[in-house]
Amino acid sequence: MWAGLVVVGVVALVAGGVGAAPLPRGGGGGAPGVEELRSAVAASFPSLRFEIYPFRADAVTGLISASVRAALEAPLNYARNYLADLLPKCVPRAIYLDSDVLAVDDVRRLWETRLPAAAVVAAPEYCHANFSRYFTETFWSDPQLGDRVFAGRRRAPCYFNTGVMVIDLRRWRVGNYRRRIELWMEMQKEKRIYELGSLPPFLLVFAGEVEAVDHRWNQHGLGGDNVLGSCRPLHKGPVSLMHWSGKGKPWDRLDAGKPCPLDHTWKSYDLYIAEGDSSSASVPSRTALSSSALPAAAFSW
Ligand SMILES: *[C@@H]1O[C@H](CO)[C@@H](O)[C@H](O)[C@H]1NC(C)=O
Repeated sequence: MWAGLVVVGVVALVAGGVGAAPLPRGGGGGAPGVEELRSAVAASFPSLRFEIYPFRADAVTGLISASVRAALEAPLNYARNYLADLLPKCVPRAIYLDSDVLAVDDVRRLWETRLPAAAVVAAPEYCHANFSRYFTETFWSDPQLGDRVFAGRRRAPCYFNTGVMVIDLRRWRVGNYRRRIELWMEMQKEKRIYELGSLPPFLLVFAGEVEAVDHRWNQHGLGGDNVLGSCRPLHKGPVSLMHWSGKGKPWDRLDAGKPCPLDHTWKSYDLYIAEGDSSSASVPSRTALSSSALPAAAFSW
């Protein structure tokens, strides 16, 4: 029994930095860059116990449909569907966190979320958001789809953000939720029922069944306005986790020399050290860690 805290993050690996030699093949699993990631994480967090579980993009590529934003089509966005398969069977629960979040509180508090018997996923819900707009007219007008999909749920369906989720992996496996999500992705390939990437299938399966978590655990939208590119402040209330969801990312804005005020919080925790940057010295330079690069591995500790 794995009783400890299991936080699963998705970490992107640089598949060859600027002028870098080809990445070594990792011993375990053979995924490129695993050993480089392992040594970079170990150097940054010497007392951390962690494991790396490579995610194979080809598990999902055939299921991905075009979306409104190319970044949403990256296979690693879908890795969260496969956690129950990637992690050992003895892991009963996981916290999934997107790579553009910063926990500013002890995630153990999130870990202690109580999941009632009927719930598989717990996450902050946003019931004031217009749920209809996450799906197309084709979806809402189809008598087999639309409201019928959400009939009989525990509660009215609400939007939730899939960047922060507590997942009961045992219930997930028993209920074969990966397959349920994939079935919606297969339908999307036949008729366009939504416009975004990995989020709508989760809403289709879980909206109205999610166990609500305090909003402090997902202060989202810090990526700014997708159209105007403007900065966004924190929402009202306490903050345990900051989430740079949206098109703008703090590492890009920092690199471009045009950070939003809150991006400075990110900078202190960024493990990537550019050539000649000596402002944070905890990691060997030219580390394999970069938050902006190619997907490769799921990572848990
Ligand atoms: C919600 O969005 C739908 C679809 O875009 C729109 O038709 C509807 O008027 C919106 N409802 C509200 C209350 O804004």
